[in-house]
Amino acid sequence: MTVATPPQTSLMPNDVKDLSLAPQGKKQIEWANSDMPVLEAIRQRFEKEQPFKGVRIVSCNHITKETANLCRALKAGGADSILIASNPLSTQDDVAASLVADYGIAVYGQKGEDNATYTKHVNLALDFKPNVIIDDGSDVVAELVQNRPEQIGDMIGSTEETTTGIVRLNAMVNDNRLPWPAMAVNNAQTKHFFDNRYGTGQSTLDGIIRATNTLIAGKNVVVVGYGWCGKGTAMRARGLGANVLVTEVDPVRALEAVMDGFRVMPMNEAAPIGDIFVTVTGNRHVIDWPHFEMMKDGAMVANSGHFDLELNLAKLAEEATDRNQIRPFMEAFTLKSGKKIMVLGEGRLINLAAAEGHPASVMDMSFANQALAVEFLVKNKGTLENRVYDIPEDVDAMIAKLKLDSMDVAIDVLTPAMVEYQNSWNIGT
Ligand code: ADE
Repeated sequence: MTVATPPQTSLMPNDVKDLSLAPQGKKQIEWANSDMPVLEAIRQRFEKEQPFKGVRIVSCNHITKETANLCRALKAGGADSILIASNPLSTQDDVAASLVADYGIAVYGQKGEDNATYTKHVNLALDFKPNVIIDDGSDVVAELVQNRPEQIGDMIGSTEETTTGIVRLNAMVNDNRLPWPAMAVNNAQTKHFFDNRYGTGQSTLDGIIRATNTLIAGKNVVVVGYGWCGKGTAMRARGLGANVLVTEVDPVRALEAVMDGFRVMPMNEAAPIGDIFVTVTGNRHVIDWPHFEMMKDGAMVANSGHFDLELNLAKLAEEATDRNQIRPFMEAFTLKSGKKIMVLGEGRLINLAAAEGHPASVMDMSFANQALAVEFLVKNKGTLENRVYDIPEDVDAMIAKLKLDSMDVAIDVLTPAMVEYQNSWNIGT
């Protein structure tokens, strides 16, 4: 689909689908905010302290009701900011409209945009000459570093939301190509323990169910990759009654999966017995053409990893004798053998393509980390090295404490005797 030239309005610059969707989007943003108390507290503090006065921020995120609340927090803190879509299928068009019409934030993104439009949006955002980039997959960072070296001097730093993006940042460090400090938001415990595990776990199953309305109970669900996203997906598939099989390349993770009670095997063995496949590896072609050929007739295949290259869909399309869109987010590919493979959500993140992504309650912590990571970069401008930083441990602990408080959960504190014991080496048996 080609997206028309951005409409000329007196509003903030935008390329959203339909500004008349704004009233519905505003209700969604407010609904999400009611389950994002940690971010809301940060937004209120930012409003008073104005830490981002004069700072230009480009956010490249999934345009969701949860991301809208991150943008509100940045704006409350005085930032001049733009939001662009980090994925062609994840934009919630009503939310995008409301951000422009109700919150005065520039937004470029439409659900269903093609790759050329996505790249155009990345470049429109870079024309804004950011000081900080909030990235989700590292595409904006990579574009600036490779193609706009003259803008490197404007940058204070960047933050990264995903495991995939951090792998790319570390590769840049190894190549001596990272020209500013970058905060690895995904490495915070209050991010990946919750967002990657419970967020991906629930929303991936939600996306598969919305796309297919298939019964999960009794199905063989193959989870490809047993990182935090894989752990969450396997756990929730089991909760719905699936027989879960796991494939892995890392022996420690494979062992964890075995001891968590899942069957572990190579993809060649899983391919003929799986009913539903979900990739969550961050790697390329983890389901390849020979695997598709081995699958059962009617096997369903989805990806919940960041990029759509986990499934070799190009080769599947080349080999298919027919393609048929059965319902939104489900396309049947017929093979020469007559078997059909059902591809969900075009191989894009199924939790955001067919459902609404992670629930607000977990994005609350992810985006609290994002907001505080940006504040850390701005406060420490000029004093940090050009490397990948983790979120400071005290920030992680503070976010967990605020989340617990919001849930009315109290915890114990160390007594002086416990502190003394922890600090001693000579108190034994
Ligand atoms: N990534 C996964 N779920 C998300 C959401 N709801 N909003 C923004 N980014 C996400």
